Amino acid sequence: MKTVVVTGGTRGIGYGLALEFLKRGCQVVICGRSEDSTQEAVDKLTAQYGGTHIFGQACDVSDYDQVRNLWVAAKEHFGGVDIWINNAGLSHAPVNLWQIDPERTQAVLDTNLLGLIYCNQVVIEGMMEQGSGFIYNMEGSGSTGKPMPKLLLYQLTKRALKFMTTGLVQATEDSLVNIGYLSPGMVATDLLREGYSPSEWERVKRIFNVLGDRVETVTPYLVEQILANNQHGARIAWLTTPKIIWRFATARFRKRDIFSDQSTD
Ligand SMILES: NC(=O)c1ccc[n+]([C@@H]2O[C@H](COP(=O)([O-])OP(=O)(O)OC[C@H]3O[C@@H](n4cnc5c(N)ncnc54)[C@H](OP(=O)(O)O)[C@@H]3O)[C@@H](O)[C@H]2O)c1
Repeated sequence: MKTVVVTGGTRGIGYGLALEFLKRGCQVVICGRSEDSTQEAVDKLTAQYGGTHIFGQACDVSDYDQVRNLWVAAKEHFGGVDIWINNAGLSHAPVNLWQIDPERTQAVLDTNLLGLIYCNQVVIEGMMEQGSGFIYNMEGSGSTGKPMPKLLLYQLTKRALKFMTTGLVQATEDSLVNIGYLSPGMVATDLLREGYSPSEWERVKRIFNVLGDRVETVTPYLVEQILANNQHGARIAWLTTPKIIWRFATARFRKRDIFSDQSTD
């Protein structure tokens, strides 16, 4: 039975991943920044899948000691960690770089860069001691290197994530630790919706409804691929180029609303 840690597992994609791993019989550890959000998510998952396979502990990934504590607690609770997913992430309203306030700038960098670095440091070292393990870092807009002027801060963190992951894949080549990339595409979560004015939202929603998907559509695929993967340096992606072409080509004939309660997809 595999033990999987999902950082930022209280909502959105992370919660969806946790649920899909539980569905497939894995033992799952989640964290959010607060005890309340973490407990609430654990309670919801427990109501569906029972409490024996789920464990939660608050952990702000931008705090090194909290990351270490999460690693130790996960190991103690389930006896080891097979898969660790660096999913926790923050974005910002779609505005120019100079319009983002310093607190938000700090928070995005703290979570997406410092948090990512701390998690990789702690978990690679821990998995080397343990003798094995898989780590996945969550890509996002910017990872491929195409700048979007109103998303630059977020994008630079995801570009850096790609850069760091590629370097870590090389650095761990001769070890039993495997590192990979996850790319979920566009997913209808709080993060995707954040900060749009009503008129901007009407505009971008059209694109999201062509290319995007719901958490419950994307996460089963990602989890199946993660559980099947035994390659170091693997990239598991939902929204591939052929899929993008197909989505645009058929957009006129398919009425989709991934943000409504009931999808027509
Ligand atoms: N949605 C998309 O279209 C999309 C596309 C590509 C990539 N991604 C990436 O996928 C990941 C998840 O995104 P999402 O859309 O699911 O976002 P979301 O719905 O906003 O959820 C973010 C999660 O991260 C947690 N979190 C935020 N800061 C944290 C911190 N410092 N320490 C620990 N946990 C923290 C939140 O928990 P609490 O609030 O409980 O602390 C929450 O569980 C992110 O890395 C994002 O960049 C998303």
